[in-house]
Order: sequence, then C-alpha cells, then structure tokens
Amino acid sequence: MVKNITLVAEQAVKTYGGVTALSDGNLAVKSGEVLALLGANGSGKSTLSKIITGLISPNKGRVLVDGRPVSFNTPSEARKAGISAVYQELSLIPDLSVSENIWLGHEPLRFGMVNRGEMHKRTQALLDLFKGLYRPHLQPDAPISSLTPDERQIVEILKAMSFDPRLIILDEATASLDSQQVNRLFELVADWKAQGMAIIFVSHRMEEIFRIADKATVLRNGRTVGDRVIAATNRRELVDLMIEGAGLLEQQRQAFEVSDKPVRLTIDDLKTNVLRGVSLTVHDGELLGLGGLHGQGQSDLLMAIFGAIKSSGRISLSGEELHFSHPKNAMNAGVALVPGDRGSEGLLLIRSIFENMLLASWSSYGTPIGMRKARSDSQNVAQELKMVMASLDAPVSSLSGGNAQKVVIGKWLLRAPKLLLLNDPTKGIDVGAKAEFYNLLKQLRDSGTAILFYSSDDDELLGLCNRVLVLHDGQVSAALSGDDLSRDKLVSASMGTVHSE
Ligand SMILES: Nc1ncnc2c1ncn2[C@@H]1O[C@H](COP(=O)(O)OP(=O)(O)OP(=O)(O)O)[C@@H](O)[C@H]1O
Ligand SMILES: [Mg+2]
Repeated sequence: MVKNITLVAEQAVKTYGGVTALSDGNLAVKSGEVLALLGANGSGKSTLSKIITGLISPNKGRVLVDGRPVSFNTPSEARKAGISAVYQELSLIPDLSVSENIWLGHEPLRFGMVNRGEMHKRTQALLDLFKGLYRPHLQPDAPISSLTPDERQIVEILKAMSFDPRLIILDEATASLDSQQVNRLFELVADWKAQGMAIIFVSHRMEEIFRIADKATVLRNGRTVGDRVIAATNRRELVDLMIEGAGLLEQQRQAFEVSDKPVRLTIDDLKTNVLRGVSLTVHDGELLGLGGLHGQGQSDLLMAIFGAIKSSGRISLSGEELHFSHPKNAMNAGVALVPGDRGSEGLLLIRSIFENMLLASWSSYGTPIGMRKARSDSQNVAQELKMVMASLDAPVSSLSGGNAQKVVIGKWLLRAPKLLLLNDPTKGIDVGAKAEFYNLLKQLRDSGTAILFYSSDDDELLGLCNRVLVLHDGQVSAALSGDDLSRDKLVSASMGTVHSE
C-alpha cells in the first residue's frame, strides 16, 4: 500500500535563555519527495527537525500533519503518527546489543513477552539492507560499544526504519558513512519515495543534495530564507542563500613542490591488528591525503603514529626513530591528532568551549599572563573557524553539531603542531566553515607543517592534496598523484582494484 503524508512547519521559534536557536522555521514536504534542509552550522536545522519530532517543544509556531495541527510532546508520539528521525547526535546505548537498541520500547511481543527470536530475525532483515557494507562482526547480538562510527550510524538508520515511518528525517546521517554506504542509503531512499514516504534530508555535502533531493529549504540564522526546486537551481544559488559572502568556496588544487623540503615523518612496515605493513613519508610543508573506504586502517594508522594504539614497525620524526608509547609523548614532540568522532574522543560536553580548546595546550599557557594570551588565541581560532557561539564560556553542549566539531579542530590548531594528523575532521561542518578550515590547513602547510589527512570525502582529497595514498584492507592499494589523482582512480583504488601503471 502506498503511504501518504504531508507535513508543514510554520513560523517555528525556539529560544534557549537568551539564545535564539530558531526564529522563523518553515518547511513543507509531502509523499514521494526528498526535501533537503540546508544551512550553515548553527542555522537551526537540527532544532527544526527536533521540533517536528516532538523532541523539543517550540516557543511559537505550529506543525501540521495532513493539514491538521499536531503537537507531539515526545518522539514516541510523533512515531505513532508515522514520523521518525535519525538525529545528528548518536543516541544508541553502548551496553545494549544492536537488536535491543533497535527495538527498545517497541519490542515484538508474543503472549505479552518480548519475542527474542522474532526480534533477532527482524534485526537481521534490517541489517541485510546494508549487506556487505559492514564488518561480519556486526550481528544482531553485538554490543553497540564494539561497533565503528559508520556501523553505529547504520544501526541508527535501521532503528528509525524499524518504526515503518511515513516521514523520516535524516540529520547528517551520511556524515560518518563511506561512499558505498551512502550509495546504499540512497537506493533505500529511492525505494522509500516509491512507497510514498516523505524524506527530510540534512547534509552539508552539496553533491548529495543534488543527487537525491527534489526540493531544498534554506535556513540562515534561524530563519527560512528560501525554497528551491533542485532541478531549477544550482550550488552557487543555494550557497548564496545559506551564507553571505560565499565567494571563498571555490577550491582549487594548487601545484606545489615538496620534494626539496626535509622529510618530517617516515613510516616503515607499520603493523597493527588492522594494518598489514604500511610505509610512507611526509615532508615538511606537505598535505598528504589518506583515502579509501571506512575501516581500511586509516584510523589505525593515525592512532599508531600518535602512540594511542600498539604497533610494530618503524616510525621516525625528522630522521629520529620515535615510536611513541603514549599520546602524551607524541604531543610533547609536536604531534597533534584531530579525531573524527567528536562525541567520544574529542570533547568534554559539559565544560566550556574555552576549557575544551585549551585541553591540549594547557601546559604551554600555564601562567596568569599565559591565560590571557590563551583566551585571545582561542578567540582568534574561534573567529577563524567562524564558530557560532554565545561566548567562549558557554558549554560545548550548547553548540550545534558542526560548531562542536570546530572546537575539536581549534583545540589542536592552538598547539601549532609540527606534524598534524587529521582523522576525517570536517564531518558535519558547513561549506563556509570548511572553506575557512581549508585555508587554515593551507596556511599551516605553507608555514612548514607536515600534515597527514584522512578524509571520507573524496572531494576534499582531490581539492587539497597533491598526493593521496589509498588504503584497502590495511595496506596501501595505490599512491595517486599528478594526472593519476582523479575521482575514477580514487574510487577504483578504494575498492582494492589496483590500476595498472
Ligand atoms: N540546548 C541548547 N542550548 C543553547 N543553545 C542551543 C542549544 N541547542 C542549540 N542551540 C543553538 O541554536 C543554534 C541552532 O542550532 P542547531 O543545532 O539547530 O543548528 P544546525 O543548523 O543543526 O547546525 P549544524 O549544521 O552545526 O548541525 C546554534 O547557534 C546553537 O548553538
Ligand atoms: Mg545540526
């Protein structure tokens, strides 16, 4: 049976104390449509999404489903009306299994008891939708804590689907997925459309918007500023709606010579549980890219260099063999690592933005005069990254998803590292802030920092790096540079297909 729904949000307002998260949120979506909800970090996308699902209650405005005003007090009321969501903050309970998480609160019952057999079977059926795109290890009974970020994201999506919704909101649901997982999700979205579902899709990746959205609604500073039909618009127009002064967005790859600069990092035959012998060199002033599908060893490589996990093989910094046994030693030697998973690795959510930014460089500012400088340095980094915040003293928990990620990046930039390791750092960051971040990276590179940069976004690697190593199954499956550094070759090397020389 074909599903049917129309949903309209009108003049929605949400304030937190003195902060206006949303001042005039409007959108409309109906069966068979994908509506992209666009806007810079902090523009109110997640707030509007949460108002629709009853997770937060608006100060003003209304939501209409099938023409009738509704006011959901909880997400479960919204789900009963056929509306479910994948939130930007992951919501799974680490100690429970995949299947317990998915069916929590709506377990299949038999004679009034939870029917575990049925639960297992239904979970397997859901997992099969992403078959082949996660490790065999992801089973209905696996605890969430054993899963990688992309696998958790898949479980979040399956959980939202388990309610068999008429409308689904995907808030940055693709940010942790690799390109194959995204492709599968988009196939599912096409099925959902055909079944008459409506989809609200939040993403900072323009390429994704143009692939699957039918319409776009743009928020700026908490206000809906425009609606467009995708077939009748272009990137430029959407970005102009999103941010004023969007001129800095064009990314150009610049040719530059690094071979004459000294070698900063040498790795020889590095092995971990996942890595099967990786060797590479990074010069001062080089931004070396790491590509490939998720979980092929990119994180392991960065963590092993940083001394956060055990490895064998040789690691040298400026010619001196230094196998760090602890991140502290790496940090003392001028190495910094920007993690990709901000929730668990990067931030103390209840502490202030300033405290979080200072976490990594505390010792270098350890005097009262130092503290004043720490504040102004932090303020500068925050400004350069265009952080949207009430003040440096506001808690990190009050920031939008993308702005929280900027704190993670900022905290390492403050240290002015000699070797910077980046683990997929721009997930969920809007186009404007990304451009600022790219500029910062280029500045760091030009001032001689050696940078090793893993990104799940092929566009970033193609736009910023002169050389990209593609990892597949714990090994370097290709080293691409010059004319070889193309999207086609990047994708085929990601699949483990080594192209001929
Ligand atoms: N609980 C809260 N307390 C105070 N301010 C908040 C709270 N939640 C959100 N805000 C503020 O409201 C604004 C809108 O946040 P929201 O999360 O909706 O943005 P977003 O468009 O989803 O951004 P992103 O792209 O970074 O995810 C931000 O400036 C944010 O700091
Ligand atoms: Mg958000």
